[in-house]
Amino acid sequence: MSETVTLTIDGKEITVPKGTSVIEATELLGIEVPRFCWHPGLSVAGVCRFCMVKIEGMPKLQIACNTTCTEGMKVTTTSDDVKDAHKWALEFHLINHPLDCPICDQAGECELQNYYMKVGKYSSQMDEDKVLKPKALDVGDNLVLDTERCILCSRCVRFEDEVTKTSSLGIFNRGDHSVIGTFPNRKIQHNYSYNIVDICPVGAFTAKDFRFKCRVWFLSETKTICPGCSTGCNVTLFQNKNQRQYYRLKPRKNKEVNGHWMCDYGRTMYEHLNAEERLAVPLAGGKSLSWSDVNKKLTEKLATYKGKSEKVALVLTPQYTNEEYQVILETLKNVIGVQFKTFIWRDPSEKLNDFDGILFRGDKNPNTAGLKQVLENQSISAVSLGDSFAPLAEQHAEVVFVFGPEMEKSYSQYANEINRFAELPNVIYFGSSKNPATKKFSLVIPTKVFAEKNGTFVNYNGINQKLKANPPVFPAMLGIEDIFSAIKI
Ligand code: SF4
Ligand code: SF4
Ligand code: FES
Repeated sequence: MSETVTLTIDGKEITVPKGTSVIEATELLGIEVPRFCWHPGLSVAGVCRFCMVKIEGMPKLQIACNTTCTEGMKVTTTSDDVKDAHKWALEFHLINHPLDCPICDQAGECELQNYYMKVGKYSSQMDEDKVLKPKALDVGDNLVLDTERCILCSRCVRFEDEVTKTSSLGIFNRGDHSVIGTFPNRKIQHNYSYNIVDICPVGAFTAKDFRFKCRVWFLSETKTICPGCSTGCNVTLFQNKNQRQYYRLKPRKNKEVNGHWMCDYGRTMYEHLNAEERLAVPLAGGKSLSWSDVNKKLTEKLATYKGKSEKVALVLTPQYTNEEYQVILETLKNVIGVQFKTFIWRDPSEKLNDFDGILFRGDKNPNTAGLKQVLENQSISAVSLGDSFAPLAEQHAEVVFVFGPEMEKSYSQYANEINRFAELPNVIYFGSSKNPATKKFSLVIPTKVFAEKNGTFVNYNGINQKLKANPPVFPAMLGIEDIFSAIKI
């Protein structure tokens, strides 16, 4: 028996696996059927009645999300009766929806607004007053709910039931008084709550950390990788380029890595990128340096240890790209020799094999696997620093290069541990944040953050993923690759 079926949609033939829905087949052909309740990461609800299509031989229009493709089926998505059905379904959804777009956070990326322009543009026949419902409800650590804006598509309810299995939401009351809400004494408190904001097609759920901060049309998007843990969720990073300010991260679909979702911890990975958190210029003994001074000082330092590499220690954290590890190790080997000792600095309290069953992993570093690969390729064995830093202290190195974590919040002991490095003589520290302890180091070199790099992270599963660079927040900032490849001895 054939495992596929062939059908035509708007005259285009397509063969799909058995069980594919008509809306999925239209997606494959790049045909957009309007939809509110259907979401590719959730079960089918068929409640919004927006995705109407015409199927030859069927007396009434059908919903594309809950109709399975069959052999020889002929589907039309653009006939006048289909267009009419879309238009009036949209008017139905807007009957009780407040027209508060000017103050709604979703404006600019609201599916009601977008579909009104694409398939609506009707003159409203609504004379009655709209039904008023509760607004600005605090429904969890990260979310605000405006029930008036809800179109009862049930995506959020299904997300809670099917993805996080926390079932914190329900639809209460009847008819036009139906309302979305949480249960008494039970708020939305888990590590995936912001996904509800993403899947809500209107502005009913808004994110506390983004509400009223910036209109979405001022934001530009970069497709990159979340650095919050070793899963490496594919994400879109939103920046206001004029302000050089980052505002949020959202998940990007990748079936092999994160499906449609990302966690709330990962959503915070824009906070350390902005200027107020960042070290802007290189420092020596607390005083600022130019980038040419950095080159001079590094060159002098490495020239001093040419042939004496056993007096040098290198400390790496699993938060840099493969390309950065490569250039660091190659430069040291070529310039001073191969005897330097390499240490890995990780959070001593991390539980590497922890996994929450959805996406979030105990290894809160984006490139543990990449670091291991590069060390192996370079035939360098590294020692783990552990709790006490004893292996490093016992080496009595005369100079220590430390590549500190960019995501300092992933290191629960960071504040203590950075002071431990400060006890060592002659530390050259690479890092991106302003940290008072770094004043004690002989040289502090600011680094580009993940949003400003092109490069590779390898996730826990060995998948190579590419970062995409935005211009640096501080225009003069150099990357590790620029700094190390400029050293000539
Ligand atoms: S709150 Fe949003 S996602 Fe939930 S049912 Fe209403 S419109 Fe749909
Ligand atoms: S699961 Fe990991 S990679 Fe994915 S969003 Fe969360 S922190 Fe980022
Ligand atoms: S998208 Fe098909 S009924 Fe809602």
